[in-house]
Amino acid sequence: MIWVAPPDRGWIRRLGPLLATHRHRLTWSILTAIGAMCLGVTIPLILRSAIDNALDERTRALWPLVALLIAVGLVRSILTFAYRYGLYTTAFRLEFQMRTMLQDHLSRLSFAFFDRVQSGQIISRANSDIRSIQMFFAFAPMMAVQLLSFTLALVIMFRIDVVLTLVALTPMPFIFMAGQRLRNIMFPQSWIVQGRMAEVATVVDENVNGVRVVKSFAAERRQIKALARAAQRLKWANLEMQRGRANHNPIIENLPRLGLAMVLLYGGLKVIDEQLTIGDLVAFNVYIVVLQTPFRFLGMIIMLAQRAKASAGRIFEVLDEAPSVVERPGAFDLVEAEGRIVFENVSFSYGAETIGGATIDDPVRVLHDLSLTIEPGERVAIVGPTGSGKSTIPRLLLRFYDVASGAVQIDGTDIRDVTMSSLRNTIGLVPDEPFLFSASLHDNIAYARPTATRSEVIEAARAARAHDFICALEDGYDTEVGERGYDLSGGQRQRITIARVLLANPPIVVLDDATSAIDVQVEADIHAGLENLLSNRTTIVIAHRLSTIALADRVILIDDGEVVAVGTHRDLLKSEPRYRAVLDSEIEAL
Ligand SMILES: Nc1ncnc2c1ncn2[C@@H]1O[C@H](COP(=O)(O)OP(=O)(O)OP(=O)(O)O)[C@@H](O)[C@H]1O
Ligand SMILES: [Mg+2]
Repeated sequence: MIWVAPPDRGWIRRLGPLLATHRHRLTWSILTAIGAMCLGVTIPLILRSAIDNALDERTRALWPLVALLIAVGLVRSILTFAYRYGLYTTAFRLEFQMRTMLQDHLSRLSFAFFDRVQSGQIISRANSDIRSIQMFFAFAPMMAVQLLSFTLALVIMFRIDVVLTLVALTPMPFIFMAGQRLRNIMFPQSWIVQGRMAEVATVVDENVNGVRVVKSFAAERRQIKALARAAQRLKWANLEMQRGRANHNPIIENLPRLGLAMVLLYGGLKVIDEQLTIGDLVAFNVYIVVLQTPFRFLGMIIMLAQRAKASAGRIFEVLDEAPSVVERPGAFDLVEAEGRIVFENVSFSYGAETIGGATIDDPVRVLHDLSLTIEPGERVAIVGPTGSGKSTIPRLLLRFYDVASGAVQIDGTDIRDVTMSSLRNTIGLVPDEPFLFSASLHDNIAYARPTATRSEVIEAARAARAHDFICALEDGYDTEVGERGYDLSGGQRQRITIARVLLANPPIVVLDDATSAIDVQVEADIHAGLENLLSNRTTIVIAHRLSTIALADRVILIDDGEVVAVGTHRDLLKSEPRYRAVLDSEIEAL
């Protein structure tokens, strides 16, 4: 689906395959634009003929010329509408295609990429960068056609009077230079303004999203000051920019009038000497305006092109990023897994397996030669100090990342041999930070199976012990969850996530039980829900609480990325001082 040419080309050629999908529309637009421009250039000629032949010499009738003028004007308006519409349609379709393409590619990229790149950067690439490319493609063809009409006008002017043309041209280089100077000042300034707008946006974003922290530290005043500072900086940058514009705009606006005055003086004298007709002079005046347009906008299009090039570079940076976790050719589906999980001498470090992009020189080893076996239908608790690599285990099992060495197997098959979707459908993960979408609770639970009926959703919610609190809400299952599910407690969010997994009903379940989700009053209730989640499947529970550990048949104690002990809770409590130490620290943390 990716429509860009390989990286060894220029940016416009890289977009070639995308542009080619619009070639008919583009060709038509450009042809109609050329038509409109040619008609535009003939208008002063008709005007000249009307003034000289009809008004002055009275050798021709006036009304056919006036009618012609109206007809040409009308056709020109229609053509102008057609080409503008065509070009804008192309540009907006291009924008749509680029957005889809970027989103499509992002969804293929691996977690290693998202670890590295800030979400704000990705959002800005998807918005302003695509927009600046779109703008370039809307204006560049128009500009090219403008240059054509410039040339035509120039030829006609030279044929009327060479010296007068040169007089008319004298201010042009100055208009161009003034425009260039203005852009040299404006271009960096507009970057500064954009940067400062982003600063203001960041402060506002933090105020809104971090409102709980801000208020809990009674830091509203500090935040307001921070916003005022950012806004002040933005104001200064904006004013500086407007000052630059105000300094140069009068020159750019009035230089053409100077040219006009010179033409009027020199041309007028020639008319008085009868070396030139009044019609010539009027036609000239109109052509001067035609000449100036490219001079005024040439700089703008250069700027648009520079900006579009930079934007395209940033977008290609994402598109050229290869996913680090890929399905091998000929991967098969994992069907009806029994659920035997084996980690065989697994070593892993974050940031080590990024291909192409930046690789961290000496990534910290998170797992060292870790081996463990979980039998079908078994319930295992993984226990270990914070940062020991517990959450990393399900991430490798789901192939969010690939192991650096060793292998992960399900039912004796290396997970790299099976399709990603079948692997991920086999395993249900309740992550440590449950994420809810801005949608109804029903849709959140039915995320794994959007076609699920309300009664199936209710059944899953009942099993996850979420039904009661959902019913207590005013809108029940139709309650819309806020952006980050703020209006639910951590424990409630976890239960919605459990219901989501229960509805998918996978043969393997991993529950990453975050300490933060503890909700002491309803703990027993949660466990009744967990009991449902864990029955009849292979389950891994990353546990912090004794009550959760109690659900497991066996405990695997992990420290610093290694399995240090395996056994029942009772045995480990007796024989393993490190196990006791971990449990004690968890209890302290409460
Ligand atoms: N995306 C990541 N990029 C880089 N390093 C990471 C990433 N995720 C985790 N780490 C690091 O890997 C180590 C193990 O992390 P992991 O999340 O597996 O710990 P954990 O045992 O689940 O801890 P906790 O009990 O606090 O949840 C930690 O040192 C952590 O800082
Ligand atoms: Mg964790």
